[in-house]
Amino acid sequence: MTEYSTILVSTSGRVGTIQLNRPKALNALNETVMEEVITAATAFDADPRIGAIVLTGSDKAFAAGADIKQMADMDYPAMYAADFFQRWEDFAALRTPVVAAVNGYALGGGCELAMMTDVIIAGESAKFGQPEINLGVIPGMGGSQRLARSVGKAKTMDMVLTGRHIDAAEAERIGLVSRVVADDQTLAEATKVAETIAAKSKPATQLAKEAVASAFETSLSQGLLFERRIFHSLFSTEDQAEGMAAFAEKREPQWKHR
Ligand code: CAA
Repeated sequence: MTEYSTILVSTSGRVGTIQLNRPKALNALNETVMEEVITAATAFDADPRIGAIVLTGSDKAFAAGADIKQMADMDYPAMYAADFFQRWEDFAALRTPVVAAVNGYALGGGCELAMMTDVIIAGESAKFGQPEINLGVIPGMGGSQRLARSVGKAKTMDMVLTGRHIDAAEAERIGLVSRVVADDQTLAEATKVAETIAAKSKPATQLAKEAVASAFETSLSQGLLFERRIFHSLFSTEDQAEGMAAFAEKREPQWKHR
């Protein structure tokens, strides 16, 4: 088992859970956190026994952003040479569905990390925001792009230009989060969602994630074609035959590929 210093990793059944665990810095995402999250998530992604991943933080903070203290003294050539934040795209590229359980602050990179996941479950006191403007910069882990694609221009401009935090109710209203639950139920609900996903046919859930993700990358006609081709390809799996037979026979499907 890999040793981590800033995250806690556990497995229960077919669900792998990663908990950000840097409480003194409100889970600020420094290089170590980034490497550890990506290492753990990539290992889950490669593990045939894992069908979904949960990513969570603490009661006070999912993550309060990229580590400002780590970045403070960097200059443009250093940022550019490191292609700072590029590595997070490895997290966004995971094939296994990821469910975020967000309590407390999800600010800057924290909000952007949540947006890289597939389903966001928020506790009712969660706070989302892109406050980088207050630091004299802009979002750098996808905030200006993923937020605009998920909630549209009006709210994105509002959040990115003013840096204001929005609460969980507003986040749900504008479509940033999937569900809002009581704070003490966030992780349980996210785990339940992950277990539901992990119990289904794995090729189907992974390809479903790929198909939805492509909606943010391609034209409608290309996206529709991609979806149709995936739909067609699933007719090569035993799980398609089993899923449809089970429906006709009024029984639960027994998935072969999980
Ligand atoms: N980076 C580094 N340290 C951070 C941090 C961050 N993003 N957020 C909080 N911390 C640290 C604080 O410095 C403090 O450490 P010390 O005790 O050593 O001083 C500790 O965490 C606790 O924080 P606070 O005392 O500030 O706690 P609070 O309850 O008073 O306030 C908060 C909470 C409103 C979240 C406040 O901490 C805050 O505004 N944090 C910064 C939020 C932010 O600007 N995020 C964007 C970062 S830039 C970015 O993410 C770029 C990108 O696009 C990827």
